[in-house]
Amino acid sequence: MQLTPSTQAICSNTPMSLLFSPLELRSIKLKNRIVMSPMCQYSAQNGAVTDWHLLHYPTRALGGVGMVMVEATAVEARGRISAEDLGIWSDDHIAGLQKLTTQIKANGAVAAIQLAHAGRKAGSSRPWQSEHPAFSWQAVAPSAITFSEQYPEPKALELGELEQIKTAFVNATTRALKAGFDVIELHMAHGYLLHSFLSPLSNTRTDQYGGNLENRMRLPLEIVKATRAVIPEHLPLLVRISATDWAEGGWTLENTIQFAREIKNLGVDLLDCSSGGSTANAKIPVGAGFQVEFAATVRRETNLATGAVGMITEAQQAEQILRSNQADLIFLARALLSNPFWAYSAARALGVKENVWAVQYDRAFPK
Ligand SMILES: Cc1cc2nc3c(=O)[nH]c(=O)nc-3n(C[C@H](O)[C@H](O)[C@H](O)COP(=O)(O)O)c2cc1C
Repeated sequence: MQLTPSTQAICSNTPMSLLFSPLELRSIKLKNRIVMSPMCQYSAQNGAVTDWHLLHYPTRALGGVGMVMVEATAVEARGRISAEDLGIWSDDHIAGLQKLTTQIKANGAVAAIQLAHAGRKAGSSRPWQSEHPAFSWQAVAPSAITFSEQYPEPKALELGELEQIKTAFVNATTRALKAGFDVIELHMAHGYLLHSFLSPLSNTRTDQYGGNLENRMRLPLEIVKATRAVIPEHLPLLVRISATDWAEGGWTLENTIQFAREIKNLGVDLLDCSSGGSTANAKIPVGAGFQVEFAATVRRETNLATGAVGMITEAQQAEQILRSNQADLIFLARALLSNPFWAYSAARALGVKENVWAVQYDRAFPK
């Protein structure tokens, strides 16, 4: 999304709360600016949705968020972080995802999905299951460079194989649309495949997909272009990026700004600004709102809409980020794990009384 006149009109009218004011992404209207950030649940069976997902995601929709972003969903089986990741590499996955979008929408939120390929970080075990067989398949990457000592060496993708990766993202996009998702996000962050093409720490290719910045951006940009081409004009496309590698010789905020300009020209509507994940040696100054400045800088420098994420936990903090024009959307992850009804509490804190909770719950929130 570009910064639209409607966004600006909302700002200039200064409603009581920007967090609880609507936002339009092309034809899709979010009732508020709270987004459930994508969070792997490691609870799928052969990539398919299970009862866990059907309870977990719609509960956050009922809890009042404007958009539920379903977790990193693998476009290829070998692109799963763990064997229990959600998948979208087969038409067999569509029916389960369709049940999920129906329930998310029935509970008042926009249904979004993050399409992902784990690259050299694929094939490990679920976080709570260290005894689980890890690294059960060959991971792929731009170059045969391991993420850390704990990871096996990935296979460098051959030039001819890159077309398969692109096709996998395009087919996944088509399936996601068939399943009823209205918003697609491409995962280009956290050291996974597309980030690993961008970062010089993981991409040392000598063909046209490695080397200088233009070459390292080539595959991610080709995927943006190819997926945008199969998404109808009225639906938005989002990208999540790691705005910096937080490491010497790595991807930088300056690179992100250049990348943001390119994707904006290709029809991306919003950049969801995360960071890190490309090296285990990064020095990350984690703290309240520590990544917000990335969303703010990209928004200011490129006029592309942005999402802020990371250690945003308080209603006033989220409100302030929007009021100071640092971002257009607030992505919440752990705060929504610990409190699926975070939006209800935030509405109370900000004095908002309309259009947040289900009418069935009105008696708990007397006007
Ligand atoms: C359990 C868990 C799973 C996650 N899975 C994903 C994911 O699938 N895709 C992604 O881009 N980020 C993922 N993240 C990162 C979150 O989306 C978010 O960027 C991060 O947790 C920082 O936000 P927070 O401070 O609000 O938790 C995950 C985080 C958690 C806690």
